[in-house]
Amino acid sequence: MEFVHSLPESKVIFGAGKLDQIGVAASKRGSKALIVTGKSSMEKLGFLEKARSYLEREGVSSIHFNEVTPNPTTKTVDKGAKLALEEDVDLVIGFGGGSTMDTAKGIAVVAGHAPEGGSKNIWDYVSAGKEESEEITEATLPILTITTTSGTGSHVTPYSVLTNPETNGKPGFGDAPMFPDVSIVDPEILREMPPDLTAITGYDVYSHVSENLISKGDHPTADPYAKEAIKFVGKYLPRVYKDGDDMEAREMMAVADTYAGISNTISSTALRHAMEHAVSGFYPEVAHAQGLASITLPIMRYNIKNGDSKVRRRYGEIARVLGAIDEIKDEKMAAEKSLEAVEALIKEIDMDKGLGELGVESSSIPDMAESTFKYMEGDVEHNPVYPDKEDVEKIFEEAM
Ligand code: NZQ
Ligand code: MN
Repeated sequence: MEFVHSLPESKVIFGAGKLDQIGVAASKRGSKALIVTGKSSMEKLGFLEKARSYLEREGVSSIHFNEVTPNPTTKTVDKGAKLALEEDVDLVIGFGGGSTMDTAKGIAVVAGHAPEGGSKNIWDYVSAGKEESEEITEATLPILTITTTSGTGSHVTPYSVLTNPETNGKPGFGDAPMFPDVSIVDPEILREMPPDLTAITGYDVYSHVSENLISKGDHPTADPYAKEAIKFVGKYLPRVYKDGDDMEAREMMAVADTYAGISNTISSTALRHAMEHAVSGFYPEVAHAQGLASITLPIMRYNIKNGDSKVRRRYGEIARVLGAIDEIKDEKMAAEKSLEAVEALIKEIDMDKGLGELGVESSSIPDMAESTFKYMEGDVEHNPVYPDKEDVEKIFEEAM
């Protein structure tokens, strides 16, 4: 066995009430911050005001940009970057779910590079689907995040996922300078997630690590994080979905999200994420992980049917970690058991919905299939079975 293991230096401050650490973390990186949030949740819940007071206490002034919408666009990033440049901020704080953290990362890239002659449009830094892109260097402004969902792991990944509204392409991109310097995970904020958001984001955690395990980009140092995170999701997601104030379950899902982000940085997602980004790229009203849940079973069936012995064993591992079997005796049967266990999990958290129910039209399938390959080719290549466009279209049809 040979491998290279490398993770950028970053710090996670985890615990109830730890939002109060944002001032100290920010003051080490400058005296003026751009706080990026979604439209309303953090303001309504009073956490934004608290964060600003913690910043002020440490002598950091802040400008607020609140225009992030779920499945964020490059246009929003460019607008936020313009504000960051006009206000000459020293650092960017992403205070929200994946959409907000990803937008903050994009803003930090543009606002860091533009004064040195770099592009003012984030799309120019995205490499997917083109020959050339601008390099993302250490000129990127320091990024801090406060994650308010337990789903994307974006607080511990260098990735940002943005939709180009002109093409509906929704690639992920990222480089080491986009890794947050410090991330705060405060369960008191996570507790405010309503049940449907808890379920959806929790399923994203499962999705990352289960794909990391079966991916061709799997990695021995990611596996322990991935398996542990699957175990936590199986045990704690149904609990916190039923009772949002179950703080043990809430905290363990936040740990699982952090493990999954680390695993996702080392390993890679596969066909499920490739195809889903095409769905929410064309249909921004579809929550990312609801899209994932809707296509999960058809993709598993495709991989188990067409994959080799290693793939079946990996799915068997998922069944084992979810507690559906004690050990893998027969690979094929173990893989089938993983299908049953995942189907039961999806049902238990009320996410068993077809794409049609989410508003996806069959007529979009050819465009979504094309977008899967054009913008998410890396994840397609990491799938244990390389599909052709027709296979992808069939999977979408089955998921309707
Ligand atoms: O926008 P506000 O008003 O803040 O409300 C948000 C939003 O409407 C609300 N919310 C967030 N935290 C809350 C809360 N409401 C109450 N209490 C809280 N504590 O939830 C809604 C959804 O937020 P969003 O950020 O869109 O959700 P999520 O965290 O699931 O992020 C999804 C985005 O991340 C991308 C997805 O594609 C999608 O664009 N991903 C990012 C990844 C990464 N950077 O590594 C990897 C993932 O695979 C994923 O692709
Ligand atoms: Mn995801």
